[in-house]
Amino acid sequence: MLTSGGDAPGMNSAVRSIVKTLINKGAEVIGIRCGFIGLLKMKFTKLDVMDVDHISSDGGTFLKTGRTDKFKTEAGINLAVKNIKKMGLDGLIIIGGNGSIMGAKKLAEKGVKVIAVPGTIDNDIAGTDYSIGFDTACNVVISSVDKILDTAYSLVNENPRVFLIEVMGRKSGDIAIHSALSGGVDEFLVPGKELNYKKIISNLEKKFVRGKEHAIIIMAEGVGDSEIIKENLEMELGFKVKRILLGHLQRGGNPTVFDRTLAARFGYQAVQSILNSYGNFMVGIQNSSIELKKIEDIDEKDKEFDHETYELCRVLCR
Ligand code: F6P
Repeated sequence: MLTSGGDAPGMNSAVRSIVKTLINKGAEVIGIRCGFIGLLKMKFTKLDVMDVDHISSDGGTFLKTGRTDKFKTEAGINLAVKNIKKMGLDGLIIIGGNGSIMGAKKLAEKGVKVIAVPGTIDNDIAGTDYSIGFDTACNVVISSVDKILDTAYSLVNENPRVFLIEVMGRKSGDIAIHSALSGGVDEFLVPGKELNYKKIISNLEKKFVRGKEHAIIIMAEGVGDSEIIKENLEMELGFKVKRILLGHLQRGGNPTVFDRTLAARFGYQAVQSILNSYGNFMVGIQNSSIELKKIEDIDEKDKEFDHETYELCRVLCR
């Protein structure tokens, strides 16, 4: 097993679930450190139940993760397959995001029995409603939004105080939409939707007329350069906007109950698949039920935009 790509809170819960379930079934478990880098460099370590004791509450991944371009080459994949054979591994469980699933597909094409487990804060993987780490990242965002709201509300200047908060998510707007909804913000900007300054300003100005003295806007990083967006907003509003980048804070912290539970369920299902000799699947959750999807059918482009939550959020931020 390995964790790969951007670390996500809850990955440790998945590792614990996989190790304990496999050992309970009498299997031997090998952890590969530093993701695909470790697979290429043979960073293999035998894992026992005691190795995963007390790790579920920790953010990050104790196996460490990694990103490498070598895995995009034929030579890299062939070396990985050679190392898997050398170690006599019966299968490989890969916990990670879209890049990791691409890697899993390539290994599957070479005959390795692979099970992928979605782990990324971005929640941009097709075939699953949620990925491990997304809920924790949203909770980090809203705890920051709550704090910014305290000062935004309390201090009154000549002009309203407007805050533009940039959140992660690559091309996905899921962190922005869910945080905007639960944080009760005034505006939110996500990829795939028109960036219409006139509409944003008109919404904010209506609020200022109603007596509101501050506004909070959340934007997903995939919308564009937040410095330029901030400058454009300032030009339209005629006063200063404060820009806040939450950055890698969003990838850290103790995983939420939701992420720990999801990870434990994914890990357990991944092991069932390996033990039943089903290879080349991705574990996912749809409508609250854990499901298996053929890995070759998983395509980043198929991730559906969450129109329902988006529309609800649009109504509530007016
Ligand atoms: O994919 C997870 C993620 O945190 C994205 O939201 C973000 O764009 C990216 O990784 C940041 O990557 P890095 O940690 O390499 O700066």
